[in-house]
Amino acid sequence: MNNGFNPYDPVRARLIDIIDESPNIKTFRLEPEREFSFKTGEFIQLTLDGIGESPFTPSSSPYVNDRLDVTIMKAGYVTEKIHQLKGGEILGIRGPFGRGYPVEKFYGKEVIILGGGCGLAPIRSLLFELLEQKEKYKKVTLCYGSKTPTDCIYKPMFCDLNKVENFQCYRSVDVADDTWDGHVGVVTTLLDQINFRLENAVVVVCGPPVMMKFGTLKLLQIGFDPKDIYLSMEKNMSCGYGKCGHCMLGDTLVCKDGPVYTYDEVKNYDHIW
Ligand SMILES: Cc1cc2nc3c(=O)[nH]c(=O)nc-3n(C[C@H](O)[C@H](O)[C@H](O)COP(=O)(O)OP(=O)(O)OC[C@H]3O[C@@H](n4cnc5c(N)ncnc54)[C@H](O)[C@@H]3O)c2cc1C
Ligand code: FES
Repeated sequence: MNNGFNPYDPVRARLIDIIDESPNIKTFRLEPEREFSFKTGEFIQLTLDGIGESPFTPSSSPYVNDRLDVTIMKAGYVTEKIHQLKGGEILGIRGPFGRGYPVEKFYGKEVIILGGGCGLAPIRSLLFELLEQKEKYKKVTLCYGSKTPTDCIYKPMFCDLNKVENFQCYRSVDVADDTWDGHVGVVTTLLDQINFRLENAVVVVCGPPVMMKFGTLKLLQIGFDPKDIYLSMEKNMSCGYGKCGHCMLGDTLVCKDGPVYTYDEVKNYDHIW
């Protein structure tokens, strides 16, 4: 509770826009009543009065602090209620919490990003961060997979990023339809198509547990050092602030020591996926 920061006291925020991203994912744009800062990869607890609270990672730029985007997949009770909002409602934001992406460790390196489904939400915020100081990174390669073309979120972002020097995006779908003439296969198969220098690359992985697992196994097979694989872990949470123990992962608490870990930090724990 330093500098007047009370972790249990939500900042009120008005819902000013809702963007449909896919059949079960929407982006909710919030305008906090006072400035709200976060670092990329840190998370917030979003409260809907009378309904409940859930953890989400902001998907907007960490350089913007008068509004905040949260991209939410319908998963259960709270997220279903959030999806029913129409705009204009007041929500609560607690945080930011946790340990985000240590981008200073990526300076001078090739950054490969492997994202699946709604896992692109924290990655979008990371991309905003990397774009802000793009001269600091050798190259940024985004590989993103969705189940079908309709399930792909942030579609316009891919064209925009491909126009940036040293940024490249690759997309895949598990199942194609008439609108798709790109790569078909699980997202990890995109790793076979990209060029990188293993000894100077780091990888960020974020997506559903099955993708995180098989993505990590493939990266290890390719020869990546477990210290160079960054994972965004999810556990059920309550306080968000290291007090209740709901989010234990081995000897650590995801809300405090994560959600971003290197694979090296979690590889010996049970049930990480
Ligand atoms: C640090 C962190 C960041 C996250 N960021 C995002 C994000 O940016 N966008 C997004 O859509 N989701 C994100 N999630 C997942 C999101 O918190 C859950 O989907 C949400 O809490 C489900 O709440 P619910 O009441 O709708 O579902 P419930 O009715 O509680 O449960 C429905 C299903 O979701 C599972 N679930 C519940 N809580 C979590 C959880 N914390 N993590 C994973 N699965 C859960 C349950 O086990 C159950 O299978 C994040 C989770 C964490 C821990
Ligand atoms: S959510 Fe309470 S200790 Fe992590």
